[in-house]
Amino acid sequence: MAEFTLPKNSKITAGKHFPAKGAKNTRTFKIYRWTPDDGKNPRTDTYEVDLDTCGPMVLDALLKIKNEIDSTLSLRRSCREGICGSCAMNIQGTNTLACTRSIEECGSGTISIYPLPHMPVVKDLVPDLTHFYAQFASIKPWIRTQSPAPADKERLQSPEDRKKLDGLYECILCACCSTSCPSYWWNGDRYLGPAILLQAYRWIVDSRDEDTGNRLEDLEDPFKLYRCHTIMNCARTCPKGLNPAKAIAEIKKLIVQRRGV
Ligand code: SF4
Ligand code: F3S
Ligand code: FES
Repeated sequence: MAEFTLPKNSKITAGKHFPAKGAKNTRTFKIYRWTPDDGKNPRTDTYEVDLDTCGPMVLDALLKIKNEIDSTLSLRRSCREGICGSCAMNIQGTNTLACTRSIEECGSGTISIYPLPHMPVVKDLVPDLTHFYAQFASIKPWIRTQSPAPADKERLQSPEDRKKLDGLYECILCACCSTSCPSYWWNGDRYLGPAILLQAYRWIVDSRDEDTGNRLEDLEDPFKLYRCHTIMNCARTCPKGLNPAKAIAEIKKLIVQRRGV
Protein backbone atom coordinates (compact mmCIF):
# COMPACT_ATOMS: atom_id res chain seq x y z
CA MET A 1 0.00 0.00 0.00
CA ALA A 2 1.54 3.27 -1.05
CA GLU A 3 1.72 6.26 1.24
CA PHE A 4 0.63 9.73 0.30
CA THR A 5 1.43 13.19 1.55
CA LEU A 6 -0.69 14.57 4.37
CA PRO A 7 -0.78 18.23 5.20
CA LYS A 8 1.70 18.92 8.04
CA ASN A 9 0.69 17.83 11.57
CA SER A 10 -2.58 16.25 10.45
CA LYS A 11 -4.18 12.80 10.50
CA ILE A 12 -7.06 11.36 8.54
CA THR A 13 -10.39 11.13 10.33
CA ALA A 14 -13.58 9.31 9.30
CA GLY A 15 -15.86 11.77 7.51
CA LYS A 16 -19.43 11.83 6.29
CA HIS A 17 -21.44 8.86 5.02
CA PHE A 18 -23.73 9.26 2.02
CA PRO A 19 -26.16 6.30 1.70
CA ALA A 20 -27.83 5.40 -1.60
CA LYS A 21 -31.44 5.38 -0.49
CA GLY A 22 -33.69 2.80 -2.19
CA ALA A 23 -30.90 1.37 -4.40
CA LYS A 24 -30.54 -2.43 -4.53
CA ASN A 25 -27.19 -2.84 -6.27
CA THR A 26 -24.72 -0.54 -4.53
CA ARG A 27 -20.96 -0.22 -4.11
CA THR A 28 -19.25 1.78 -1.39
CA PHE A 29 -16.45 4.23 -2.22
CA LYS A 30 -14.21 5.61 0.53
CA ILE A 31 -12.64 8.82 -0.76
CA TYR A 32 -9.91 11.08 0.61
CA ARG A 33 -11.13 14.60 1.26
CA TRP A 34 -9.06 17.65 2.13
CA THR A 35 -9.38 21.31 1.37
CA PRO A 36 -6.82 24.02 2.15
CA ASP A 37 -9.63 26.50 2.93
CA ASP A 38 -11.04 25.34 6.27
CA GLY A 39 -7.99 24.42 8.37
CA LYS A 40 -9.49 21.00 9.14
CA ASN A 41 -7.81 17.58 9.10
CA PRO A 42 -8.14 15.42 6.03
CA ARG A 43 -10.97 12.88 6.23
CA THR A 44 -12.37 10.01 4.23
CA ASP A 45 -16.01 10.30 3.18
CA THR A 46 -18.00 7.19 2.20
CA TYR A 47 -20.44 7.20 -0.66
CA GLU A 48 -22.79 4.41 -1.67
CA VAL A 49 -23.25 4.44 -5.42
CA ASP A 50 -26.17 2.81 -7.24
CA LEU A 51 -24.42 0.65 -9.83
CA ASP A 52 -27.66 0.15 -11.79
CA THR A 53 -27.52 3.81 -12.82
CA CYS A 54 -23.73 4.16 -13.08
CA GLY A 55 -21.24 3.49 -15.88
CA PRO A 56 -18.70 0.67 -15.50
CA MET A 57 -15.52 2.61 -14.68
CA VAL A 58 -14.27 4.12 -11.43
CA LEU A 59 -14.35 7.54 -13.13
CA ASP A 60 -18.05 7.04 -13.88
CA ALA A 61 -18.67 6.47 -10.17
CA LEU A 62 -16.62 9.54 -9.19
CA LEU A 63 -18.52 11.72 -11.65
CA LYS A 64 -21.84 10.31 -10.44
CA ILE A 65 -20.84 11.18 -6.88
CA LYS A 66 -19.84 14.70 -7.95
CA ASN A 67 -22.90 15.30 -10.13
CA GLU A 68 -25.60 13.67 -8.00
CA ILE A 69 -24.40 13.21 -4.41
CA ASP A 70 -21.70 15.69 -3.35
CA SER A 71 -20.63 18.47 -5.71
CA THR A 72 -17.80 19.52 -3.38
CA LEU A 73 -15.64 16.52 -4.43
CA SER A 74 -12.68 17.66 -6.58
CA LEU A 75 -10.88 15.55 -9.15
CA ARG A 76 -9.18 16.02 -12.50
CA ARG A 77 -10.31 14.33 -15.69
CA SER A 78 -10.64 15.18 -19.34
CA CYS A 79 -10.51 12.51 -22.03
CA ARG A 80 -12.09 9.56 -20.16
CA GLU A 81 -10.18 7.14 -22.35
CA GLY A 82 -6.65 6.87 -20.99
CA ILE A 83 -5.12 9.55 -23.21
CA CYS A 84 -4.77 12.75 -21.18
CA GLY A 85 -3.39 11.26 -17.93
CA SER A 86 -5.27 13.72 -15.75
CA CYS A 87 -7.41 11.22 -13.78
CA ALA A 88 -4.38 9.44 -12.24
CA MET A 89 -5.01 8.56 -8.58
CA ASN A 90 -4.47 5.78 -6.05
CA ILE A 91 -7.30 3.23 -6.31
CA GLN A 92 -7.25 0.24 -3.95
CA GLY A 93 -3.57 0.88 -3.18
CA THR A 94 -2.47 1.10 -6.83
CA ASN A 95 -1.69 4.20 -8.85
CA THR A 96 -3.77 4.06 -11.98
CA LEU A 97 -6.22 5.93 -14.21
CA ALA A 98 -9.79 6.16 -12.92
CA CYS A 99 -11.14 6.16 -16.47
CA THR A 100 -9.54 2.87 -17.53
CA ARG A 101 -9.99 0.99 -14.21
CA SER A 102 -13.37 -0.74 -14.10
CA ILE A 103 -15.32 -1.00 -10.86
CA GLU A 104 -15.46 -4.76 -11.41
CA GLU A 105 -11.65 -4.99 -11.52
CA CYS A 106 -11.47 -3.47 -8.03
CA GLY A 107 -12.54 -6.75 -6.41
CA SER A 108 -15.18 -6.95 -3.70
CA GLY A 109 -15.79 -4.63 -0.75
CA THR A 110 -15.26 -0.91 -0.30
CA ILE A 111 -13.19 0.84 -2.98
CA SER A 112 -10.63 3.21 -1.42
CA ILE A 113 -9.49 6.19 -3.45
CA TYR A 114 -6.66 8.57 -2.52
CA PRO A 115 -4.64 11.14 -4.46
CA LEU A 116 -1.31 10.09 -6.01
CA PRO A 117 1.12 9.28 -3.17
CA HIS A 118 3.79 11.64 -1.90
CA MET A 119 2.66 14.66 -3.85
CA PRO A 120 1.38 17.88 -2.33
CA VAL A 121 -2.41 17.99 -2.60
CA VAL A 122 -4.30 20.95 -4.05
CA LYS A 123 -7.68 19.58 -2.91
CA ASP A 124 -9.22 16.10 -2.47
CA LEU A 125 -7.95 13.93 -5.36
CA VAL A 126 -6.06 16.72 -7.15
CA PRO A 127 -2.26 16.51 -6.75
CA ASP A 128 0.01 19.50 -7.29
CA LEU A 129 2.14 18.52 -10.30
CA THR A 130 4.05 21.81 -10.60
CA HIS A 131 7.41 20.27 -9.67
CA PHE A 132 6.79 17.22 -11.88
CA TYR A 133 6.13 19.45 -14.90
CA ALA A 134 9.18 21.61 -14.10
CA GLN A 135 11.27 18.42 -14.12
CA PHE A 136 9.74 17.51 -17.49
CA ALA A 137 10.64 20.95 -18.88
CA SER A 138 14.19 20.53 -17.54
CA ILE A 139 14.94 17.71 -20.02
CA LYS A 140 13.98 20.01 -22.92
CA PRO A 141 11.45 17.60 -24.42
CA TRP A 142 11.64 18.65 -28.05
CA ILE A 143 13.85 17.82 -31.03
CA ARG A 144 17.14 19.70 -30.73
CA THR A 145 18.94 20.02 -34.06
CA GLN A 146 22.16 21.60 -35.28
CA SER A 147 21.92 20.91 -39.02
CA PRO A 148 19.70 23.17 -41.15
CA ALA A 149 16.19 21.85 -41.83
CA PRO A 150 15.76 20.28 -45.31
CA ALA A 151 14.36 22.94 -47.64
CA ASP A 152 11.52 20.96 -49.17
CA LYS A 153 10.58 18.23 -46.70
CA GLU A 154 10.33 17.26 -43.05
CA ARG A 155 13.21 15.64 -41.18
CA LEU A 156 12.59 12.04 -42.17
CA GLN A 157 12.98 8.87 -40.12
CA SER A 158 13.28 5.28 -41.33
CA PRO A 159 10.65 2.76 -40.20
CA GLU A 160 13.40 1.03 -38.15
CA ASP A 161 14.30 4.27 -36.35
CA ARG A 162 10.64 5.09 -35.78
CA LYS A 163 10.22 1.68 -34.19
CA LYS A 164 12.73 2.65 -31.49
CA LEU A 165 10.13 5.06 -30.11
CA ASP A 166 7.58 2.28 -29.49
CA GLY A 167 7.06 1.78 -25.77
CA LEU A 168 8.09 5.41 -25.18
CA TYR A 169 5.85 7.71 -27.25
CA GLU A 170 2.75 6.21 -25.61
CA CYS A 171 3.61 7.82 -22.24
CA ILE A 172 0.85 10.20 -21.21
CA LEU A 173 2.78 11.79 -18.30
CA CYS A 174 0.18 10.67 -15.79
CA ALA A 175 2.84 10.42 -13.02
CA CYS A 176 1.53 7.03 -11.78
CA CYS A 177 5.05 5.57 -12.09
CA SER A 178 6.99 8.39 -10.44
CA THR A 179 4.60 8.53 -7.49
CA SER A 180 4.93 4.76 -6.98
CA CYS A 181 8.74 4.92 -6.81
CA PRO A 182 10.22 4.99 -3.27
CA SER A 183 13.37 6.71 -4.57
CA TYR A 184 11.20 9.47 -6.01
CA TRP A 185 9.26 9.73 -2.73
CA TRP A 186 12.47 10.39 -0.78
CA ASN A 187 14.54 12.31 -3.36
CA GLY A 188 11.94 13.75 -5.74
CA ASP A 189 13.42 17.22 -5.31
CA ARG A 190 16.52 16.12 -7.26
CA TYR A 191 15.83 12.64 -8.69
CA LEU A 192 13.96 13.02 -12.00
CA GLY A 193 11.95 9.82 -11.46
CA PRO A 194 10.80 7.17 -13.95
CA ALA A 195 8.31 9.23 -15.97
CA ILE A 196 10.72 12.04 -16.77
CA LEU A 197 13.61 9.65 -17.42
CA LEU A 198 11.46 7.62 -19.84
CA GLN A 199 10.67 10.88 -21.61
CA ALA A 200 14.36 11.83 -21.63
CA TYR A 201 15.19 8.48 -23.25
CA ARG A 202 12.43 9.05 -25.83
CA TRP A 203 14.40 12.07 -27.14
CA ILE A 204 17.81 10.40 -26.74
CA VAL A 205 16.82 7.56 -29.11
CA ASP A 206 15.00 9.76 -31.61
CA SER A 207 17.13 9.50 -34.78
CA ARG A 208 16.20 13.09 -35.75
CA ASP A 209 17.59 14.61 -32.56
CA GLU A 210 21.16 15.94 -32.80
CA ASP A 211 21.92 16.69 -29.16
CA THR A 212 22.35 13.20 -27.69
CA GLY A 213 25.72 13.96 -26.11
CA ASN A 214 24.42 16.95 -24.16
CA ARG A 215 21.28 15.06 -23.17
CA LEU A 216 23.37 12.22 -21.70
CA GLU A 217 25.76 14.64 -20.03
CA ASP A 218 22.87 16.49 -18.39
CA LEU A 219 21.60 13.23 -16.89
CA GLU A 220 24.99 12.01 -15.63
CA ASP A 221 24.35 13.09 -12.09
CA PRO A 222 24.19 11.13 -8.81
CA PHE A 223 20.66 12.37 -8.14
CA LYS A 224 18.94 13.04 -11.48
CA LEU A 225 19.50 9.49 -12.80
CA TYR A 226 21.36 7.28 -10.38
CA ARG A 227 18.74 7.33 -7.63
CA CYS A 228 16.98 4.58 -9.59
CA HIS A 229 17.69 1.40 -7.65
CA THR A 230 15.69 -0.94 -9.95
CA ILE A 231 12.78 -1.21 -7.52
CA MET A 232 10.45 -1.78 -10.51
CA ASN A 233 7.24 -0.35 -9.00
CA CYS A 234 7.21 1.98 -12.01
CA ALA A 235 6.84 -0.83 -14.56
CA ARG A 236 4.32 -2.68 -12.39
CA THR A 237 2.00 0.31 -12.04
CA CYS A 238 2.12 2.04 -15.46
CA PRO A 239 -1.48 2.02 -16.75
CA LYS A 240 -0.19 2.12 -20.34
CA GLY A 241 1.94 -1.01 -19.87
CA LEU A 242 5.24 0.84 -20.36
CA ASN A 243 8.56 0.01 -18.72
CA PRO A 244 10.35 3.13 -17.45
CA ALA A 245 12.90 0.95 -15.60
CA LYS A 246 14.10 -0.41 -18.96
CA ALA A 247 14.42 3.11 -20.38
CA ILE A 248 16.48 4.12 -17.33
CA ALA A 249 18.74 1.07 -17.76
CA GLU A 250 19.25 1.99 -21.44
CA ILE A 251 20.28 5.55 -20.49
CA LYS A 252 22.82 4.17 -18.00
CA LYS A 253 24.17 1.83 -20.70
CA LEU A 254 24.54 4.68 -23.20
CA ILE A 255 26.40 6.78 -20.63
CA VAL A 256 28.86 3.93 -20.02
CA GLN A 257 29.31 3.41 -23.80
CA ARG A 258 29.87 7.11 -24.32
CA ARG A 259 32.61 7.10 -21.71
CA GLY A 260 34.18 4.24 -23.69
CA VAL A 261 34.37 2.04 -20.58
FE1 SF4 B 1 2.20 7.32 -16.76
FE2 SF4 B 1 3.38 5.11 -17.69
FE3 SF4 B 1 4.17 7.52 -18.57
FE4 SF4 B 1 4.74 6.75 -16.11
S1 SF4 B 1 5.50 5.80 -18.01
S2 SF4 B 1 3.96 8.74 -16.71
S3 SF4 B 1 2.95 5.58 -15.55
S4 SF4 B 1 2.18 6.57 -18.87
FE1 F3S C 1 11.96 3.66 -9.02
FE2 F3S C 1 11.36 2.22 -11.12
FE3 F3S C 1 13.88 2.74 -10.55
S1 F3S C 1 10.36 2.16 -9.15
S2 F3S C 1 13.90 2.90 -8.37
S3 F3S C 1 12.35 4.20 -11.11
S4 F3S C 1 13.08 0.86 -11.35
FE1 FES D 1 -7.89 11.23 -19.43
FE2 FES D 1 -8.42 9.41 -17.55
S1 FES D 1 -9.57 11.18 -18.08
S2 FES D 1 -6.64 9.58 -18.81
